[in-house]
Amino acid sequence: KIIVLDFGSQYNQLIARRIREFGVYSELHSNEMSADEILASGDVKGIVFSGGPNSVYEDDAPKCDPRIFTCGLPILGICYGMQMIHYELGGKVQSSTERQYGRTEIEITQDSLLFDGLPKKQTVWMSHGDKVSELAPGFVKVASSETCPFAAAENKEKNMYTLQFHPEVRHSEYGNDILRNFVFKICKAQNNWTMKDFITTKTKEIQEKVGKDKVLLGLSGGVDSSVVAALLHQAIGDQLICMFIDHGLLRKGEGESVMETFGKNMNVNLVKIDAKDRFMKKLKGVSDPEKKRKIIGNEFVYTFDEEVKKLTAGEEIKWLAQGTLYTDVIESGTKTAQTIKSHHNVGGLPKDMQFQLIEPLNTLFKDEVRALGEELGLPEEMVWRQPFPGPGLGIRILGEITDEKLKMVQDSDYILREEIAKAGLQRDIWQYFTALTNMRSVGVMGDQRTYDYAIAIRAVTSIDGMTADWARIPFEVLDKVSNRIVNEVPHVNRVLYDITSKPPGTIEFE
Ligand code: XMP
Repeated sequence: KIIVLDFGSQYNQLIARRIREFGVYSELHSNEMSADEILASGDVKGIVFSGGPNSVYEDDAPKCDPRIFTCGLPILGICYGMQMIHYELGGKVQSSTERQYGRTEIEITQDSLLFDGLPKKQTVWMSHGDKVSELAPGFVKVASSETCPFAAAENKEKNMYTLQFHPEVRHSEYGNDILRNFVFKICKAQNNWTMKDFITTKTKEIQEKVGKDKVLLGLSGGVDSSVVAALLHQAIGDQLICMFIDHGLLRKGEGESVMETFGKNMNVNLVKIDAKDRFMKKLKGVSDPEKKRKIIGNEFVYTFDEEVKKLTAGEEIKWLAQGTLYTDVIESGTKTAQTIKSHHNVGGLPKDMQFQLIEPLNTLFKDEVRALGEELGLPEEMVWRQPFPGPGLGIRILGEITDEKLKMVQDSDYILREEIAKAGLQRDIWQYFTALTNMRSVGVMGDQRTYDYAIAIRAVTSIDGMTADWARIPFEVLDKVSNRIVNEVPHVNRVLYDITSKPPGTIEFE
């Protein structure tokens, strides 16, 4: 396997993910992982240092265990990873407050295994402020650009390779080939890893971790928790208890459909809890998005705690399984990456939580989870369900949540889903839903003035949820949806179409 050490870039897991796509197992770890821990973790062929937002000159700039430099494994340093290597080994880094950002042409000036078989001139994606101005002893320049004299440099003898640009980003024309050269030509890894291996490894890991203990899983019916349910069911059978908490913020018809699909397809222990009242009570009067997320996340765990006690007549359950994905972890902020939103699986957990967590999907992206679900034999209707956030419609109603607003979102969303299905577009769009803007505006209906709410349609295409583009739903479909919403949903007199990509927008509204 290849270990990626995390220096805080928002896209660092992409490196691990690209390597897995080559059929080589790869994991992301904290930059604090020591050389001994790396060597003890079994069959490591190489190490990648990710990029990151810091400058090596900052007091709290993340470093690595210096013994990694001499442990004999090939190292690839990317962006901050490169700067840190040169700085630590006696080179110089020029600090700058200006960022160089975007596509840049580089020229390969010397033969290198990293660029083996690739054109001498190529476009790469740069995103950095600081840059290396003097190489550490033993390194030679391999590529440069107009503004960056050391776009790539290496010390072949010591097996260290450094890149100022980002090969993991798709805008780097031959980025994938460069990573591939590192993995196969330099690290000499074998491409023999598949999702089956992931299942085997995780099954063993879960069995060892929980022993004979019972594990509780919060099932939402979404892809992630369904896949966790299947994986855990395979690993520990009846020790798994699934609890489906209906917080009342689900889409129309969702509760019934979850119970039906699970009853039909999987023979798991499943209990449904109706908890709408307690969630609504806690959310009354709250309009701040982060507060709403935290309240919903906390209430989930409290509800679990209470309901489980009832269920097991006081027997202590230690483990809580969750379908947290990598995207949830990174956007909730890790030690090195900044917080974008508190995802409910992660940031919303109360400090006095009684459970220990099992999160077997937290290194995967959504499409990898779908592939895993298929490998586990889940039915298509489950694996291809569009993503639905843990806090549910709570974050699709801007401002305070009321029963009336909830109904507007549920009904309009149902119409959108119906029309998308009629048009056969379900698989083409990653996620589509309606949100209630907290805006009211003037309209006219049957000669009467109205002063009512505006519903927004949000639809995006994406591969992994990290970046997204707004979906080009055909005008005829939009027209039908808009007509139906204003006619069929009381208190809505306007329909808006959100045409923001991510970034700068996020997929959800809150
Ligand atoms: P954003 O809005 O951050 O969403 O661009 C990215 C993807 O994550 C989903 N999402 C969540 N999923 N708990 C989840 O399980 C959450 O708190 C949460 N917030 C957003 C969102 O639906 C999209 O697919």
